[in-house]
Amino acid sequence: MNKLDSELMLEQFLSKGHKQTDTEKDADVILFNTCSVRKHAEDKVYDNLRMLKPLKDKNPRLIIGLVGCMAEKEKANALDKIPFLDIVCGPNQEEAISDTIDEIIQTRSRIIKTGDGESAGKSPIRTLGSLSAYVLAMKGCNNFCSYCVVPYVRGKETSRPLGEIVNEAKMLSEKGAKEIILLGQCISSYADRGSKLSHLLKAVHEMVRIKRIRFVTSHPAYTTEDIFKAIKDLPKVCPHLHMPAQSGSDKILKAMNRKYTRGDYLKLAEKARGIVPGIEIASDFIVGFPGETEADFEDTASLIREVGFLNSFVFKYSSRPGTAADKMADDVPYKVKQERNKILLDIQGKISEEKNRLLVGKEVEILAEGRSKTNVMTQTGRTMQNHIVIFNSTDDLTGQLVKIKITSSTALSLRGELT
Ligand code: 5AD
Ligand code: SF4
Repeated sequence: MNKLDSELMLEQFLSKGHKQTDTEKDADVILFNTCSVRKHAEDKVYDNLRMLKPLKDKNPRLIIGLVGCMAEKEKANALDKIPFLDIVCGPNQEEAISDTIDEIIQTRSRIIKTGDGESAGKSPIRTLGSLSAYVLAMKGCNNFCSYCVVPYVRGKETSRPLGEIVNEAKMLSEKGAKEIILLGQCISSYADRGSKLSHLLKAVHEMVRIKRIRFVTSHPAYTTEDIFKAIKDLPKVCPHLHMPAQSGSDKILKAMNRKYTRGDYLKLAEKARGIVPGIEIASDFIVGFPGETEADFEDTASLIREVGFLNSFVFKYSSRPGTAADKMADDVPYKVKQERNKILLDIQGKISEEKNRLLVGKEVEILAEGRSKTNVMTQTGRTMQNHIVIFNSTDDLTGQLVKIKITSSTALSLRGELT
């Protein structure tokens, strides 16, 4: 989501005739697009901002800004902490970021823009072509998982009109996009006047130039059978779900306000596999949530084994001000969080390794994504299920669907030869 937001902000500046610089020292404006999901990310942003002081001292006209979720959360705090910060702009005000910068240039004042934007709902400028293009399907989130800051900083769930999304995808396909990645914090609940996610997938599927369609992030409580059927019936929709389970313990899932049980998750994964054979599922997990006992943690470890995820992202619980979980005692020691994190990654690593090993000797189709930076012969791509494949070719095959015979594997990627 932040990658897309950064691109949309860049588009605003480019449309006004500005240019992107390669280094900070050549820039007139430096913006930090930020994440608030964990405290560690916020601390790093403050450290990076402080490091810009010498640049600002040398060039007082330089404009430095904090944008994104952390700006929404920190507001005036950020101006107090960083005396040379010029702008604090939340995610729903980014649609007018370049106008806000113009305002700063004219008034030389420090500006805070948070809350809902006035220009919300306008179609964004999309001139930059890319092979895989993100398209926003919906903003915000209404789920209020007890640990999560997103509903507070991104606001309430709003789906974009289906027609607007399709038009944007069409425009991007004309600029060379071969893959469309539909984005929403909880994309499973996409709803536009009777149209659901399955309808949106069907509409994007009709574009001839689009070869693949992905969508993230799926919430287990709202992922319905019609979505699995759409994946099965629409050959360009990738059989891959990023559907975070977060925990395998019913007690913890309830405290997290996730609205499903371990049993529900297992049934859902089984249903997905029944309807779409070969579908791969990836997950996020939080370790060390308040009250997580050794037995709760074991339930998470066993869920990973039972479902057999393609990969899992594991995070140590970080208490976020204002959330429901912030009122609970953060009682799992950091060291234990670290240990649990490592154990889950080890379990997942073995599963990923095993899954990848089963593909050795098989032929897969990948969308070639480009040459490696260090070796022009080496190129990478992804299977529809989201396995990363590395192969050699003298011809640049970027943007093409190519068949590769897999020759070796690790937990992270596959290697193969063009067939
Ligand atoms: N602490 C740790 N991890 C978190 N996530 C969200 N909020 C927190 C938090 N307070 C994780 C969830 C989510 C991913 C994007 O970040 O696993 O799916
Ligand atoms: Fe956060 Fe839960 Fe919404 Fe995901 S579904 S963004 S974890 S509140």
